[in-house]
Order: sequence, then structure tokens, then C-alpha cells
Amino acid sequence: MTATRKMISAVLLLGLGLAACGNPAPQAVADGERGTGYSFGPASRDGIGKFYEGREISHVMGHLGAGWLERGSREREERTDLLLDFFVSLGPGTVADIGAGTGYFSLPLAERLPDSRVLAVDIQPQMLKMLGRRAAERALDNVVLIEGRVDDPGLPAGAVDLVFMVDAYHEFSHPREMMAGVVQSLRPGGRVVLVEYRGEDPRVPIKPLHKMTQAQVIREMNAVGLSWEATQAFLPQQHVLVFTAAQSVQP
Ligand SMILES: C[S@@+](CC[C@H](N)C(=O)[O-])C[C@H]1O[C@@H](n2cnc3c(N)ncnc32)[C@H](O)[C@@H]1O
Repeated sequence: MTATRKMISAVLLLGLGLAACGNPAPQAVADGERGTGYSFGPASRDGIGKFYEGREISHVMGHLGAGWLERGSREREERTDLLLDFFVSLGPGTVADIGAGTGYFSLPLAERLPDSRVLAVDIQPQMLKMLGRRAAERALDNVVLIEGRVDDPGLPAGAVDLVFMVDAYHEFSHPREMMAGVVQSLRPGGRVVLVEYRGEDPRVPIKPLHKMTQAQVIREMNAVGLSWEATQAFLPQQHVLVFTAAQSVQP
């Protein structure tokens, strides 16, 4: 093997190793996005060096982090039971879970809303595979898997009553394009719910780029024409922010 070939093999192996370690997952950040609210700079340890409305976007959590999403202590730590109750209270209808991961929320929601359709969107095929397997084990036929793109959730136009994202939005490498896709998917009166770790609270034990302040979330949703409706404060670590495509008052 020539020295050049050896170097190419080493670079490829390093690339594969990074992809396999679970964090960061591979993601495409295209050039030519200036003028759309994005800016670029040196990447911090957990970020991709792309900024939106002043916020550095974080790495995507790789599929090898699936065990963390499904950890037994999650319900107690994050009161995911209360969050699920909240989503159920906003149903029934067509519900989209963007960044669905292993289906931690999609699957129990589909069970509790049997007359609803749950569109489970993710960009990682490995996550969707796990989710699909678990949906089949539970004989859930109202879960639809959608492999989205980094800049398009792949949702049907004007068809969705509720779109929610739990601990996912801060990872979107193309948040503006993703949310434009969400807005066009909403039925009249449809809602968007974002659940993010509270950036204002230093006691929440999560890396800074994986948290968001309420003001930042509202700024980014307003940028795509969504209006703040309410913030629910029933979770120990996260904000639950509700938006509509209609006009409403800011907090
Ligand atoms: C931290 S996990 C959260 C999973 C799930 N919402 C939960 O709370 O258990 C974030 C997920 O968002 C997904 N994701 C990141 N960017 C995405 C995008 N542009 N579109 C759809 N999913 C995305 C990742 O692949 C990952 O599965």
C-alpha cells in the first residue's frame, strides 16, 4: 500500500470511528446559507459552528445514545408521564413527533390515542428501525415512520393537528427550513409544542448547547411565523412551549 493510500485509509477509519461513537452523528451543513438568519464561526466542543438567531446548534445525538433515551430513571427524572398526559390532552388527530428517536413518546401516545395517527419523524434510519420494531411488537398500526431530511420533516401539507419535538429542535442543523416545513404541515388551528431543557436554570444538569432559554425558543419560532400561546411549567427540567400559526400575545 502506498503512503497516500495508507493516509486515505486512516482518514476513512477515523471518520467511521467518529460516526460509530454515537456523538456526533454525521450531518450535512451546506454552504450558501448566508442571508437566511444563519451565521458561521468556530465550533465549540458540542456544537457544529453554525449559529441561528445567535444560538450555536448542537451535534445530533447518535443512535448509540438510544439506551440513554430509554433509561429506567427517565420518567422519575423528567416526569415524562406528565408530558405524555399533556400530549394526550391535546389529541386526538394527526400528531407528528419530530426527532422521535426510539419512539419514547410516539409509541405510548399511539397506544393512548388509538384513533389518532402518529407520524414519527427522524433523520437516523437506525432510530426509525428500532421504533418500527417496537411498534410492531406492540401491534400498533397507527404509527407511521417518516425518514426526514435535515432540512425537511417530510410531513404532508395542511394535515397535522399537533407537531411536537422533545429534546430535538436544538439539534436541527437547518432549524429555519425544518420549521417552515412544520408550518406548512399544520391544519388551521394546529399547534406546535417544543420541549427543551431550561437554559435559564444552571441546576439542570445538561450541556449548555442542549438547553434553550424560553426567549430564544420564542425568537426562533416567531422567525417562521409561529406565535407563542403558552408556556407550561409542570416539568422539573424542561420548558413546554406551545405555539400556533395564528396571531397571539407574547409573554
Ligand atoms: C435527543 S434525541 C430525542 C429523541 C426523542 N424525542 C426523545 O425525547 O426520546 C433527538 C433526535 O432528534 C433527531 N433529529 C436531529 N435532527 C433532526 C431533523 N432535522 N429531523 C428529524 N429528526 C432529527 C435525532 O436523530 C435524534 O433521534
